[in-house]
Amino acid sequence: MWEKYSLINNSNLNEFEKKHETKMKDWYNNQFHLSGYSGSVNDPNGLVYYNNQYYIFLQSCLFSIEHYNKSWGLYTTKDFINYTYEGIVITPSCEWDKHGVFSGSAKVNKNGELEFFYTGNIKLDTINRTATTIKALVDLKEKIVTKELLFTADLTKYTGHFRDPIIFERDNNLYMLNGAQTLDIKGILSVYKFNNNKWEFFKDIELDKDDKQNSYMVECPNYFELNGKTIIFACFEKEGAIGTGSHFVKYLEVEFDKELNITSNNTLNKIDLGFDFYAPQIFDNTHNRKIMLGWLGNSKSNVFPPELTTWSNQLTVPRELFIKNNKLYQLPIKELEQLRVKTIDGKYENGTAELIGENINDQNFNIEIKSNSKSIVIQNLNNILTIDRSNVDYSDEENLPSILQFEDLKIQDIQILIDRSCMEIFINKGEHAISVRFYLKHHNEIITDLTNKKTYQLKGYEYSWNNII
Ligand code: FRU
Repeated sequence: MWEKYSLINNSNLNEFEKKHETKMKDWYNNQFHLSGYSGSVNDPNGLVYYNNQYYIFLQSCLFSIEHYNKSWGLYTTKDFINYTYEGIVITPSCEWDKHGVFSGSAKVNKNGELEFFYTGNIKLDTINRTATTIKALVDLKEKIVTKELLFTADLTKYTGHFRDPIIFERDNNLYMLNGAQTLDIKGILSVYKFNNNKWEFFKDIELDKDDKQNSYMVECPNYFELNGKTIIFACFEKEGAIGTGSHFVKYLEVEFDKELNITSNNTLNKIDLGFDFYAPQIFDNTHNRKIMLGWLGNSKSNVFPPELTTWSNQLTVPRELFIKNNKLYQLPIKELEQLRVKTIDGKYENGTAELIGENINDQNFNIEIKSNSKSIVIQNLNNILTIDRSNVDYSDEENLPSILQFEDLKIQDIQILIDRSCMEIFINKGEHAISVRFYLKHHNEIITDLTNKKTYQLKGYEYSWNNII
């Protein structure tokens, strides 16, 4: 079954434009982290390098800062410095995805063609839902999306929570991973295999046999191979407030037998220690360079200052993944160094800065990012790293915990990318990453007792916006 439709005609483009203009004037609007044209964004989707450019689709709702009516918006870039906004590309258009074009991925197939796979969200009533898995071809020039229904979630095995397909190849077989919820309400990975020209159920994989994560849902799975290792990662959701760690992303280094039984006994580890991180995805078709983007936020931390009415949320910067000492490391991609315009000694302009501290050797240190008497503090004291965002312009203790603490990180080096309302902290050259949102208007000064400090200012840069009409 195939269905064709034309891209959104943007009849209410004026409304989006007004929201967009307000967003661009908003001081909190991040300068080097991607967000939507207007409204909310969440997961990065369909990440791929194809025909000399990177495609960055993202879950987008132009209308609202809340999460509903999801479509895929698109940025393209050749260099991760200059981006073009290509508009909203895949929208709910038919029975299969009528309540949302949910997350999914891209794959360059054996014939070199670019294919997308995503979940169609279908609400059956106010509580129950089901999901479809859809393949889409996108012709950006002609502005045509062609959709094919692959299969519908098997409600005899799973609740309607079944989503976020990603395709991988192994031993000349093609597999598809989806996140799912079993009928006894546990998070699981559902694997389909491409057989005789169709996708057939293959098996379920329990990433956490002892259910230590106690998750009721697994979403946004990933599979990749690097340096001969196979890594799976997935997002776990469980009941509870954000401060209790209800949403987290973990990776597992696995060994599989031919039937995809896990034969290794490794433990799951967090990809990012911050509360504001979810749904990461890796670009397809970049060979040995694995580049990841995540959502710098999650649905439990969907809390914003009241004046923020026209936009919400952003992605992380692109991070390159490495495997060192059997651990996953991640660093901002090299290209971002081009954003450094001058070194600074404390004061910076435009609400963007980068701070690098080297050779810390586990000593105590204090870093304060300031705006007049308010600040966010990053402190290492007796090998406990504390990030304290309580003295900023907007906080909501219940939903946005102010204090994050980490023990025993043995900090040697720290690199912090500071944007208007979020920052990413990398420790020990990528051994740990911590994503943090914070609302501190006009921050413009770093006070630190770090020895050997080097600080750089990052230049804010503009995206060019091309609406598809
Ligand atoms: C994760 C998620 C996905 C889903 C999408 C909907 O953030 O819930 O599982 O496909 O967001 O926007």
